[in-house]
Amino acid sequence: MAVKSAVINVMEAAARKAARGLLRDFGEVEQLQVSKKGPADFVSNADLRAERTLRRELTKARPDFGLLMEEGGAEAGADAGRRWIVDPLDGTSNFLHGLPHFAISIALEEAGEVTAGLVHAPVGDEMFWAERGRGAYLNDRRIRVSARARLADALLATGIPFKGIANHEGFLKTLAAVMPHVAGIRRFGSAALDLAYVAAGRYEGFWEYGLNPWDVAAGLILVREAGGFVTDFDGRTYRLGAPHILAGNDPLHDEIGRLLRAARAEAVL
Ligand code: 2AM
Ligand code: CA
Repeated sequence: MAVKSAVINVMEAAARKAARGLLRDFGEVEQLQVSKKGPADFVSNADLRAERTLRRELTKARPDFGLLMEEGGAEAGADAGRRWIVDPLDGTSNFLHGLPHFAISIALEEAGEVTAGLVHAPVGDEMFWAERGRGAYLNDRRIRVSARARLADALLATGIPFKGIANHEGFLKTLAAVMPHVAGIRRFGSAALDLAYVAAGRYEGFWEYGLNPWDVAAGLILVREAGGFVTDFDGRTYRLGAPHILAGNDPLHDEIGRLLRAARAEAVL
């Protein structure tokens, strides 16, 4: 049985509270699909409601910590060295379209390093969590990155840029470089869950351009504590705000990085 620290308990309680609201709202979204206007405004309200719940619960438990939230931005706390990094609804497009693949992501950053992370998928009730030096867990079970060592057996995840996002050509080059070598590539639409799934050994790796700190802060400690690596495409330790991210298991991370770098050498970025 995994023993959770006080900080993980705070994160979990906040996530569960926000998840109850998201699940209620997700039920409504399915009704709204047929309306002409669609559920977009409703979903952005659901997102804001979840963020307010998380802000309230996290601040109640740790009044001195600062915050970095997707909707609300950065707020300094009395404790300048610690802040929560929160994405109240990762996978917004899925939620909007009635697809049950979305998550709440909460990380704790201390002195510029992520020291704890939690990704909660309310549908299916999966709680991924990790703390520096203590390993990564799914609910009460320890998780490890996959041991698959051949690219030909590897299932990878990525994110496809969309309207209004730069670098469609660059992404297509990386896709063309990777796809002939692997067993499959998935695009599920939640970077936080993509990283959690790498940590749990479901995917061998994940790459994407242009993510924000709240998309990946919790996921990166999950992968590292599960024995995997998180870098940029050049193999440098991933830092929040970097322009691209590559997460992978021990045997394949470097090999995937080489394919991505070869693609970028050809691309004009
Ligand atoms: P969201 O659901 O919180 O908006 C899908 O590829 C991932 O990209 C999701 O985690 C999504 O987060 C995130 N995302 C949202 N806006 C983005 C943007 N402008 N650029 C890159 N990624 C984005
Ligand atoms: Ca997000």
